[in-house]
Amino acid sequence: MGAGKSTGARSLGAELGVEALDSDRELEQRLGEPVESFFDREGEDAFRAREEELVLELLAREGAPVVALGGGAVGSDRVREALGAHTVVHLEVEPEEAWRRASGKGRPLARDRGRFDQLHGDRVALYDSVADALLPPGDRDTLRRALPALRRLESAPAGTRLVWASALSGEYPVFLGDGLVAAGFFHPADGRRFVVTDETVARAQPFEGDERIVVMPGEEHKTIHGAEFVLRALAEAGAERGDVVAAVGGGVVGDLAGFCAAVYQRGIRHVQVPTSLVAQVDSAYGGKTGVDLPEGKNYAGVFHQPSAVICDPSALETLPPEELAAGYAEVVKTALIAGGPLWARVRQGGEPDAETILGCVRTKLAVVAEDERDAGRRQVLNLGHTVGHAIEAATAYTRYRHGEAVAIGLLVALRLSGREPLRAEVGELLAARGLALTFSGASVDDVLALVERDKKRAGGRVPFVLVEAPGDVTPGHDVDPAALRAAVEEVHSE
Ligand SMILES: NC(=O)c1ccc[n+]([C@@H]2O[C@H](COP(=O)([O-])OP(=O)(O)OC[C@H]3O[C@@H](n4cnc5c(N)ncnc54)[C@H](O)[C@@H]3O)[C@@H](O)[C@H]2O)c1
Repeated sequence: MGAGKSTGARSLGAELGVEALDSDRELEQRLGEPVESFFDREGEDAFRAREEELVLELLAREGAPVVALGGGAVGSDRVREALGAHTVVHLEVEPEEAWRRASGKGRPLARDRGRFDQLHGDRVALYDSVADALLPPGDRDTLRRALPALRRLESAPAGTRLVWASALSGEYPVFLGDGLVAAGFFHPADGRRFVVTDETVARAQPFEGDERIVVMPGEEHKTIHGAEFVLRALAEAGAERGDVVAAVGGGVVGDLAGFCAAVYQRGIRHVQVPTSLVAQVDSAYGGKTGVDLPEGKNYAGVFHQPSAVICDPSALETLPPEELAAGYAEVVKTALIAGGPLWARVRQGGEPDAETILGCVRTKLAVVAEDERDAGRRQVLNLGHTVGHAIEAATAYTRYRHGEAVAIGLLVALRLSGREPLRAEVGELLAARGLALTFSGASVDDVLALVERDKKRAGGRVPFVLVEAPGDVTPGHDVDPAALRAAVEEVHSE
């Protein structure tokens, strides 16, 4: 209720040149009276029976390509089964907004706020279970703009889901599903495709393109020199403004290729095809691109949103276990930020599967949608990163993987947050993956000096992201230098 299904469906119908059907309206016509009066007189069961009958008919009807479904229709097993043959879009809406739009109009289930919120919560899980595409609340034209991507979904392997990402500077589809890489799935379809990948990924997860630019694997190649190599390869191969860079690999390739796309001829499109867990849950989304300088990680970069992200969890099958473990630290970080069902899932300690990755993607996209340029809310994504980055830099980016350093950084952040039981639980989750809970190879002073140089520093102080509880994570905290030193000493081993 109140998500904008009817308006969205009309806008989509107009784009397709067809009439959009609205199951509530069709039902009223059939009942010969308003839904409200039928509902009040006959009760909800009678109403649902009539609704089910009509919806099944609409879904089977030839030439009815767009149907706005009444909010309760998916409560029926038979309707959910019939939806399997269709592309189902879940228009997400916050309960607050839904109530604002749906209440005061006599709708039988939108009369009492408590009951409304309860219903909303119950139904969301049901909607997610049938949805092929998740569209966050947007303007009424979002559906129309998402249409090309929705159509591409039809040619994706079964089970692929589309999540619509939107931020101030742009919006793009995220396709998430097993088998996308092997199927050679790609979007958008226009322009020549320049695949930028690293040597390891080129062997493990070969990806089709018009040209292939292969860089050396590893953080030590995410440099200005690495960028020059890619930029010159693009120029030599004759890449033009309308072409697309496909970044196929982990976060290193994603950041590097994204950066090159952002600056090549002042900016061409790029598509992220993340193949590491770090990239699938974090780095491929949000448009941060860049390279490292000897003076600091990610010190030269630019915001450049991708045109699409193609995320295939089955590509992780060839990822070495240590890399999977490193990515797991970002999963834990994201789950702490999200709280709710994602944290509940992650704290059980299972393998990060497509569902967990989807939860991480939605969390990251929601944060970025609020604050694309890192002015406030987005800084929560840096949970564990201030000290994590310092550990990486203090050990010359050679001793620890990014995620391994973040794992240790998370423990420092939780200590500074004063959340002991949570710190212990997170420590256990990380250790169970074989992640080290302490660092060596650099001194505490080295790490603290690098924390001071953190690029998030403002007005001479380095703000920390702290955790009140899972789902309650806030940026911008001052921390006591002595407490910081103690927390870093605690995770240091000789
Ligand atoms: N832009 C962002 O918002 C953001 C966020 C988080 C991290 N990052 C960046 O991401 C980088 C770390 O990413 P990463 O951990 O993916 O590192 P990575 O790109 O170096 O990948 C890790 C290793 O796994 C290999 N690999 C990747 N996919 C594989 C596959 N499917 N099969 C076999 N081998 C595979 C790579 O060749 C590499 O050796 C860092 O540079 C970090 O700064 C960026």
